[in-house]
Amino acid sequence: MRVCVLTGAGISAESGVPTFRDAGGLWEGHRVEDVATPEGFERDPVCVYRFYDERRKSLGTVEPNPAHHALAKLEAALGEDFLLVTQNIDDLHDRCGHVRLRHMHGELLAARNEYGDVLPWRDDLGESDRCPTTGTRLRPHVVWFGEMPLHMLEIEEFLSSCDVFCAIGTSGLVYPAAGFASIAFHAGAHCVEINLQATGGPFHEVRTGAAGTMVPAWVDELLTEIDAEHG
Ligand code: APR
Repeated sequence: MRVCVLTGAGISAESGVPTFRDAGGLWEGHRVEDVATPEGFERDPVCVYRFYDERRKSLGTVEPNPAHHALAKLEAALGEDFLLVTQNIDDLHDRCGHVRLRHMHGELLAARNEYGDVLPWRDDLGESDRCPTTGTRLRPHVVWFGEMPLHMLEIEEFLSSCDVFCAIGTSGLVYPAAGFASIAFHAGAHCVEINLQATGGPFHEVRTGAAGTMVPAWVDELLTEIDAEHG
């Protein structure tokens, strides 16, 4: 059984990481065009550096929740037949030891030089920071609006050949991630949504509720199915 899981900000909400579009979410306090576009970065880099510094710093105060741990259990059972695609730039999935994890929108704990090379970065990042190898300016390794998300070829190939697709904690408003359910659905996968509320996407099954409770239950059911499959 090949399983693809897509996560959004909702899976990290119970860990204390703010989502984008819920009440009090990140887009309530900031204009996307100011802090999440290349133009915004060119216009006012200090504002953008500060926006990501605050979020990078807050990672030290949050922990993975049962939903993150359940997905790590699923990867341990499936290995190469599992792919976890996250829109999130926090490191909560990473801390659960995933190998089959792809950050399609980049990562808070990384910076990128002007050649596109990515380097680990855990501290504040500012205008005076330079790449130690090339000496060029550094930016957050985050995919902004108008930029191409990462790992798209690998993701689309896996989506077209998986048996189960599950979208967890995403509003399904931002493409290309919002189109993943449709790719999997038309490729014949069983499509499941786990979210506080249904988003109206092409899912065979919608489980509404908090990820911290719903995801461990869904993973346990799947593991029972996988055990039965292997006899
Ligand atoms: N359990 C399950 N779902 C939850 C929970 C929870 N505890 N809390 C919130 N949600 C749901 C919300 O109902 C919403 O549908 O998670 C979803 C979060 O939606 P968004 O805030 O839009 O986050 P996301 O879908 O990840 O945004 C996608 O938009 O701004 C860009 O790059 C940014 O990666 C982000 C992308």
